[in-house]
Amino acid sequence: MSALLHPPSGGGDIAAAEFAQLRDLLYRESGIVLPESKVSLMVSRLNKRLRHLHLSDFGAYFRYIEADQSGHELREMVAAMTTNVTSFFREAHHFALMADTVLPPVLERVKSGQSRLRIWSAGCSTGEEAYSIAITLLEQCPEAARHDIKILATDIDPHALERARAGLYRAAVTKGLSEARTKKFFEPVDQNGDQAWRARPELRNLVTFEGLNLHQNWPMRGPFDLIFCRNVVIYFDEVTRSALWQRFANILTPEGWLFTGHSERLDAPAMRHFTLEGVTAYRRQNVQGSPTASAGASPSAATMSPPMPINPTLSQKGS
Ligand SMILES: C[S@@+](CC[C@H](N)C(=O)[O-])C[C@H]1O[C@@H](n2cnc3c(N)ncnc32)[C@H](O)[C@@H]1O
Repeated sequence: MSALLHPPSGGGDIAAAEFAQLRDLLYRESGIVLPESKVSLMVSRLNKRLRHLHLSDFGAYFRYIEADQSGHELREMVAAMTTNVTSFFREAHHFALMADTVLPPVLERVKSGQSRLRIWSAGCSTGEEAYSIAITLLEQCPEAARHDIKILATDIDPHALERARAGLYRAAVTKGLSEARTKKFFEPVDQNGDQAWRARPELRNLVTFEGLNLHQNWPMRGPFDLIFCRNVVIYFDEVTRSALWQRFANILTPEGWLFTGHSERLDAPAMRHFTLEGVTAYRRQNVQGSPTASAGASPSAATMSPPMPINPTLSQKGS
């Protein structure tokens, strides 16, 4: 019999072997690393799944996931283990940089019809980041809908995405928004007597929300002018993080921007492709003959997933 792990906060034991099985499955599927110190997190999050499925222990739950050919319960397990904390205009300096430095030259080219603009919120959670990007864009370019501008927002958690698509936020959640922005870009909604705000169509129409596991193949071709991947890779290990930076470099435009979370830094191999232009704001280097000057010529292209058939929704709406 495997040793039992006792979550400090109580809520039921889990055998060490069962914890290891579920932890390994989570890592293989999503890249998320769960140290043993997070055993209580696993127990409390997955207990809900056990109750839902009328299963008595974590061993039975692991076997249930393995037997589920559809992959549904594996996705539910991963979704249950994700951390979705987010807010409007979180790390506001990125949006200030976007408005003051990044967007003006790009929008000039877009408005003259010389180029398109593609932005990716990778690990968008419940949508606040993507809508903050859309607001920043609309403030600079109110006629954005008339141009070739798209924001793709992706996440591994289908439940977070459902909320993102609905674009409905309780008043307390909109605290990162000024009153003026709230009134301009959201409409008031009564939610069972409570005040809530729904993103207006001009905001929603700019953003396409799609399910995407960063750890697996990416069906979209890009290239993206801006990628926001913030407070996502903190849950990954070095190897997964490093591979991801390379893939972002490959799918960015030659002088594209990558924004990471406050505690996330590109590693030395990735910094060969980027320069640091602000707080956790990186710009791909467009040096003639540099490894990333052409994604096809990049040695790091070898680390990319093989091309996948393009998901029509993603290629049409988001890339
Ligand atoms: C803490 S939230 C960050 C939200 C937003 N980017 C921000 O900074 O406010 C992390 C998000 O990453 C998502 N995530 C974790 N692993 C992922 C993976 N392998 N592929 C895609 N999304 C993932 C989670 O579902 C979660 O919604």
